[in-house]
Amino acid sequence: MIGAGSSGIAAAKALHERGFEFDCFEKSDRVGGNWVFKNRNGMSSTYRSLHINTSRDRMQFAGFPMPATYPDFPHHTQIARYFDAYVDHFGFRERITFETGVDHARPAADGTWEIRLDDGRSERYDALIVANGHHWDARWPEPRFPGSEAFAGEQIHAHDFTGDDPNYFRDRRVVILGMGNSAMDIAVESSFSAAATYLAARRGTWIVPKYVFGRPLDQYFTRAGVPFKVRQAVTRRLLRLIVGDLERYGLPKPDHGPLEAHPTISDDVLSRIAHGEITPKPNIARLTERTVVFADGTEVEADLVVYCTGYNVRFPFFAEDVITAPDNDLPLFRRVFHPDRPNVFFIGLVQPLGAIMPLAAAQGEWVADYLTGRYALPPAAELRADMDRERARMFKRYVASRRHTMQVDFDDYLADLAAERRRGAARARGRPLPVPARAVAVA
Ligand SMILES: Cc1cc2nc3c(=O)[nH]c(=O)nc-3n(C[C@H](O)[C@H](O)[C@H](O)COP(=O)(O)OP(=O)(O)OC[C@H]3O[C@@H](n4cnc5c(N)ncnc54)[C@H](O)[C@@H]3O)c2cc1C
Ligand SMILES: NC(=O)c1ccc[n+]([C@@H]2O[C@H](COP(=O)([O-])OP(=O)(O)OC[C@H]3O[C@@H](n4cnc5c(N)ncnc54)[C@H](OP(=O)(O)O)[C@@H]3O)[C@@H](O)[C@H]2O)c1
Repeated sequence: MIGAGSSGIAAAKALHERGFEFDCFEKSDRVGGNWVFKNRNGMSSTYRSLHINTSRDRMQFAGFPMPATYPDFPHHTQIARYFDAYVDHFGFRERITFETGVDHARPAADGTWEIRLDDGRSERYDALIVANGHHWDARWPEPRFPGSEAFAGEQIHAHDFTGDDPNYFRDRRVVILGMGNSAMDIAVESSFSAAATYLAARRGTWIVPKYVFGRPLDQYFTRAGVPFKVRQAVTRRLLRLIVGDLERYGLPKPDHGPLEAHPTISDDVLSRIAHGEITPKPNIARLTERTVVFADGTEVEADLVVYCTGYNVRFPFFAEDVITAPDNDLPLFRRVFHPDRPNVFFIGLVQPLGAIMPLAAAQGEWVADYLTGRYALPPAAELRADMDRERARMFKRYVASRRHTMQVDFDDYLADLAAERRRGAARARGRPLPVPARAVAVA
């Protein structure tokens, strides 16, 4: 297994409890991945002020609730502590090899995986579980905006923002680009001390509050199977009532309906706009030595540009001809199984409307079912057709963007996965193991 972030530990627990022989390699000296602020692996995108935006009750793993003393939206330090405690609670810390990165993963001719570690060792495995995360490789605007090399101020990506220096924004003129959650948080933080904060967007988006009627919004509509059109209509009505018309704040009108983009969640950004502390702007058109020029021709003096333009999905340990995700798109059967490779599995490579963690746990159980012969995949043609259907449905619903390549609805995904596991259990009866044990013989 590659990675012991929240996805890796969820899968490791499943394998550990089922008595698998496995190794989990983790670059860092601890579990938690993204949630370890200033993680020594250099991959965390967490900033000092970060709180989760999926509520505690929806994020926690089954059988191990977050402490009752935690707020509904805990701080990242509490989340990192929770993941650490999870590993000890279920007793599999010794299964993780820390401070050991996987440099290369190659399918050998006999069907096993040859894994080269950064300490020079090579190992063979029958199966490979990939849980290396998908929010660590900063995606800068491509191509860079004209004039960005001439700009005399500072340009950073959200990934590099730590919030460590309380005076970082003080008295500076700051342009934030993007309308995702990083942009909301960083614009709000900037707005408390900067001389000016501009929020530039290439498209409008719905801004969803964390709390509605005294409860986290993601704790409403928690039933699977509610038709999309119904959920969309209810959400639209709710947002109209609570948030109102985004153009009244000076933000662009969303060019899509609610739930057709990854949710942008903020209780604060609209208030800071209403206070005049954040000024909405259209997309950046170009930069000059001292200014940023926007698509509507307006121009502002700027000292800092923060690109909150998302992340690339990358697997640096696979050769290009083995597995890649061009434009962040890696088609998988229900976001876990590779259609051409029967012994590689992806955990947490999914963007839910909701939290990733319970989905990663269900994915881990599913892979464990498969490897123990309790689940069999559908026939190849059926599997492909299913993938095509899922993908067509997703691309039709969501705004065309590299951030919308693996979207799922939390409750529907869990229910579908449970149903698929039942179907696959019936198919599996009397079948041989799908991944034969070969690696031990090779070693
Ligand atoms: C700022 C921010 C806030 C977020 N907030 C939320 C939220 O509120 N709720 C939510 O559900 N999601 C949120 N996310 C999404 C985030 O992706 C998940 O919360 C979570 O971190 C995913 O866990 P993961 O284990 O898949 O990846 P990661 O947390 O990135 O962990 C991957 C692990 O793999 C290890 N690794 C990577 N490559 C190798 C290698 N080659 N060899 C060995 N080890 C390796 C890394 O060291 C790391 O420990 C947020 C993301 C960001 C950037
Ligand atoms: N817990 C929290 O509070 C929290 C905080 C931060 C992040 N997160 C999570 O972390 C993940 C990443 O979030 P993110 O906000 O960093 O990235 P993101 O969701 O991918 O959003 C990127 C934003 O940048 C825009 N963009 C991309 N390229 C652009 C370009 N070349 N020019 C102009 N605009 C461009 C996108 O617009 P388009 O829509 O047009 O592509 C989008 O608005 C998400 O899962 C998010 O929920 C959570």
